[in-house]
Amino acid sequence: MAYTIPKGLFDILPQTKEEWRTASRWQYLENILHAAAADYGFKEIRTPIFEKTELFVRSVGESSDIVSKEMYTFPDKKGRSMTLRPEGTAPVIRAYIEEQLHQISGESKFYYIGPMFRYDRPQAGRYRQFHQFGAEAIGVGTPEQDVEMIDFLCEIFRRLGLKNLTVHINSVGDAETREVYREKLAEFLEPHKGSLSEDSKARLEKNVLRILDSKDLDDQKLLEGAPSLLDFLSLEAKTHFERVQTLLKLLGIPFVVDPNLVRGLDYYTHTVFEVMSDKLGAQNTIGAGGRYDGLLATLGGPALPSCGFATGLERVLHTMESEGSSFPPPRNPDLFLIPMGEKALEACLNKGTYLRHQGWSVEIELSGKKIQYGLKRANELHAKFCAVVGERELASQQIEVKEMALHTASAVNWNDLETFLKMRRSL
Ligand code: HAM
Repeated sequence: MAYTIPKGLFDILPQTKEEWRTASRWQYLENILHAAAADYGFKEIRTPIFEKTELFVRSVGESSDIVSKEMYTFPDKKGRSMTLRPEGTAPVIRAYIEEQLHQISGESKFYYIGPMFRYDRPQAGRYRQFHQFGAEAIGVGTPEQDVEMIDFLCEIFRRLGLKNLTVHINSVGDAETREVYREKLAEFLEPHKGSLSEDSKARLEKNVLRILDSKDLDDQKLLEGAPSLLDFLSLEAKTHFERVQTLLKLLGIPFVVDPNLVRGLDYYTHTVFEVMSDKLGAQNTIGAGGRYDGLLATLGGPALPSCGFATGLERVLHTMESEGSSFPPPRNPDLFLIPMGEKALEACLNKGTYLRHQGWSVEIELSGKKIQYGLKRANELHAKFCAVVGERELASQQIEVKEMALHTASAVNWNDLETFLKMRRSL
């Protein structure tokens, strides 16, 4: 049996019927992300694909779904536990502390693009290897920093032409607030334990806040009467959250306050946010993040407040497709050369190489196959021009250059080929 790709993974290809997997779309998206990051003053950081397991256990949290169920964890040859990164924040903070970046470079705003790994049930918009663009701003604890991040995320989507999005925000307060609230919520839910969904029942013991996130309709109904986290915020947390809302209004970013938004990673404090698309079905969160003021200290670094987000590139591309966003056309060859015979092959290789060095996209049929084959390939590749070069053409130094789309031909001197291409480009 032929080998097949593992479940929940996918190939990105030069051409495919599932257009979101087309490499040129990924390149287009990545270029926009790099440019937006530069505009917002974020510098690229690349961390390894795997880290010591402990890093994610300490940061994302032992009782989170990611750590308890979804990590690709394996022992290395010496039996040390390693994990394919399920997210990018913890590795960035690990690198920041380990490389002492706060002392050395003064850089404090980082971004990354790369694959992440979570063993979850695959479905549309949920993969086991997926890609995130993420940004982390370290060292500034003000609400202004939260709003800069939310605006950065929204601006990316705006540049990509996405419209049907909603920003949801909440405050999960500080650690003490959450501790008090956790108890209150558990107290409220305990008498109704029997009617909770199986997932929520398990969470009642381990991670009661996550019940707020339940998709189960009966759970949701029950939660309508639950105490709200927002009522337990300290004065400082409340003031911070109110300021975030004022600033979002100032920047003209519409938002919805969602008291049930708790996020699936344990490191968050104060502001959390998610951007939802109404085009994505069940997996409708296109980007998400929040403040994580305690994480650096937890991982042994300086006690610096921080804030960040990540957006899933697959979901961005799905949303772009369903919103009918336009992508730049792929670059096709300017010229396809079909040599006939050994001498012509050498001449075409020489000419084609020269033209490529000048920045033209040139294909040369190197296989020595018949003209028909070369013409078929030129058509398939949507070459703009095509020329067959044989002994006769070399002797006369005149070639016939066909413009494929128009089915017209021009006589061109072999030495004037580049001038011809230049003239036709400027038409
Ligand atoms: P997250 O909410 O786990 O946050 O993931 C962020 C985004 O990654 C999601 O909104 C979604 O677009 C995408 N995503 C997550 N899981 C999958 C999957 N299995 N398949 C496809 N896309 C997925 C984080 O990862 C945090 N590190 C974000 C952050 C950065 N917070 C602060 N800084």
